[in-house]
Amino acid sequence: MIPLLIIATPLVALFVFCLSSGKKINSVTYASGSSANCGWRDGMLAYLMDAPRLLRVGYCTTKNKGGIFKIPILRNWMLIMTNSQRLEEALKSNDGTLSSRGAIEEMLQLSQFFSPTILTNPYHFSLITSHLTKRLPMVIPELVDEVANFFEELIGDKSFFVGRAPEIFTPMICRTINRAFVGKEKCRDKEYIKLSIGYSARVVSKGYMLSYVPLSLRAVVASLIAPFSQRRAMAKHLQPLISARRETIAEVGNVNADSDFLCGLIERAPPQEQDDYSLAMRILHLNFAALHSTYVVCTQMFYIICSKREWAEELRQETATVIKNYGWTQNGLDQMVKIESFVREVLRLRGQAGISLIRLAIKPFRFSDGVVIPPGTMLSADALGFQSDPEQWRDADHFDPFRFCEGDDRTSNEKGRIVNTSYNFLAFGHGRNSCPGRWFVAYELKTMLAYALYNYDISFESGVLEEPQDRWLGAACFPNETAELRFSRRNRD
Ligand code: HEM
Repeated sequence: MIPLLIIATPLVALFVFCLSSGKKINSVTYASGSSANCGWRDGMLAYLMDAPRLLRVGYCTTKNKGGIFKIPILRNWMLIMTNSQRLEEALKSNDGTLSSRGAIEEMLQLSQFFSPTILTNPYHFSLITSHLTKRLPMVIPELVDEVANFFEELIGDKSFFVGRAPEIFTPMICRTINRAFVGKEKCRDKEYIKLSIGYSARVVSKGYMLSYVPLSLRAVVASLIAPFSQRRAMAKHLQPLISARRETIAEVGNVNADSDFLCGLIERAPPQEQDDYSLAMRILHLNFAALHSTYVVCTQMFYIICSKREWAEELRQETATVIKNYGWTQNGLDQMVKIESFVREVLRLRGQAGISLIRLAIKPFRFSDGVVIPPGTMLSADALGFQSDPEQWRDADHFDPFRFCEGDDRTSNEKGRIVNTSYNFLAFGHGRNSCPGRWFVAYELKTMLAYALYNYDISFESGVLEEPQDRWLGAACFPNETAELRFSRRNRD
């Protein structure tokens, strides 16, 4: 559900702004090369209410004419790049000039909700590579076990389960990711899962609201709305696990790549962040980074399956053949090329956002044609435009689940794999700050889909085959949560 707060806050801010002035922004000339300029207030409303259309129009009109356009975002402008030369130049810049972490802080005020050092010293991000991606052969059997256990619990001794996306997919995703972060026992603790899900949702709504509070008042307002009790509860949950890992580290002497995520976290944490609370904040932050985006894509994926029975059947057939030969192993998941193609196509045409590579200019950034992005301005790429550009994609607007199984883009060519990023595929960003969790999430989404298809018939409870439309707020996409899904046990005999 999109919290009412998220919709109300910008509308109130828009009203206040309209009463005051838009002139200051209108006089800005730095994006004068843009041909997608629209009136400030009209543009802002259009962006809030119908960003997908605005992004498509902006892309088509500027791709070969300037390669950039601007959209008003209340406090400022968002400049949106629409050709690959601009992306190339922006990606060559450094974090001190165009900052991805600065951008997320600007949008969601994460330092107020986790800790002030969460983005200045994100040492926990590197663990995703060293203790999640590198350990995938060990993590994948646990992932499969967790998804299987989740469905068993969900359906129990009944023959079917009916529920909406948030009741099914949010806990399933939260459990699987926490199986990798904190282990089997804690990831099945319902209180812990509830806490993690609730906190992540609150950060999105409250962080967004807080970003509209004047800078001088932010810390005070944050202290009133940030749920400290939940942070303390999180630390309490993790304290025994952290102590146990400390004992292991003391016994063994040092931590290597075989040790689990929590051991790695303790070892990498700087001396001033070795306390249980600080370590718990890092785990909470990773939960936040992993949960929402995966939930959006997972829900879209299952909705499509419910609306296209023939695709569901083809993917099920592939799963059955692979499982027979390889079992639920990493190798098996690698053989599921149709499932892989389907998930990548969901990310190409749907996904969590219409823009990607979001950066905040910390210093002026000058493109080679002289366009300057002043400090404080946001810059991003028109992911929706790039990912549905007819010059880059055959039948670009058509959802073709098996597009990456064939031709040059096929999955067996690395290029067609879920994790592959490029100027035309920006679902995980591209370049230096691209999503480090994408290797994990590729296996996670594939496991969830393949396991569910293999074991259950999945349909909309209403019996319709039509998918509920996604909802958009600005460039953020949220699944429509009105649909009920039915998972019925399959008789495979
Ligand atoms: C389908 C699911 C996911 C999608 C679509 C997604 C997408 C993204 C995108 C677009 C970015 C920003 C890239 C950029 O600005 O260049 C990002 C960053 C990030 N993602 Fe993901 N992500 C997903 C799942 C995950 C998971 C499961 C994890 C953790 C295990 C994760 C951890 C992160 C982190 C830590 C960053 C920040 C990287 C940095 O600033 O260096 N993501 N993700």
